[in-house]
Amino acid sequence: MNIEEQYIDGLFERDEVLESIREGTVAQGMPDIAVADGYGKLLTMLVAMNRVTNALEIGALGGYSGVCLARGLQAGGQLTCLELLPQYAEVAQKHVTEAGFGHCISYKVGDAKASLEELYQSGQKYQLFFIDADKEGYPTYLEYAIKMADPGALIIADNILLRGRTVNDAKQGPAVQAVRAFNKQIVSDPRLESTLLPGYDGLAIERVK
Ligand code: DHB
Ligand code: MG
Repeated sequence: MNIEEQYIDGLFERDEVLESIREGTVAQGMPDIAVADGYGKLLTMLVAMNRVTNALEIGALGGYSGVCLARGLQAGGQLTCLELLPQYAEVAQKHVTEAGFGHCISYKVGDAKASLEELYQSGQKYQLFFIDADKEGYPTYLEYAIKMADPGALIIADNILLRGRTVNDAKQGPAVQAVRAFNKQIVSDPRLESTLLPGYDGLAIERVK
């Protein structure tokens, strides 16, 4: 984090629920890569501003962003989280339940593309998507999100800068290429209206027309 980001994060009162999820995630041997604090707040606000009742998260990690998303849901709203690893889903489930959101978050374990195909085939629609899983999958996750979007739905994606690798021409690995393709697509796809925020590790926000 740069000094401006640290300054802004430091203005806020401590959020003990989210802090304990961050710490509990690391304590379980999982990577310390939950969404940035400021973007977590933005997730809550976007869910609330769009009066979301049905949201989908791709990549759960330890439940930090799950709680951020669930905090914004309308009464009776539901968040579905896709997570590849059963041990991560278990940790996330424990954390969100402790935070009081067990009743509105459910986990679907396994390969996200298979889960997305299943949800799509069953006719599921969502008003908000948060993409934060393997970066190579971003273009595919975007296509599924567009297909399952209610009109006006938001699609949000974390880490579009890949800690600078996205803008480093020497980096040409599959994740970098996928994120570059994702970023190019969202600014030109006629089905979307998009913005990309460069703070922290970058966040993309798209609105499905
Ligand atoms: C990293 C950060 C993330 O938020 C993520 O989803 C994946 C990787 C990272 O900093 O390596
Ligand atoms: Mg991320």
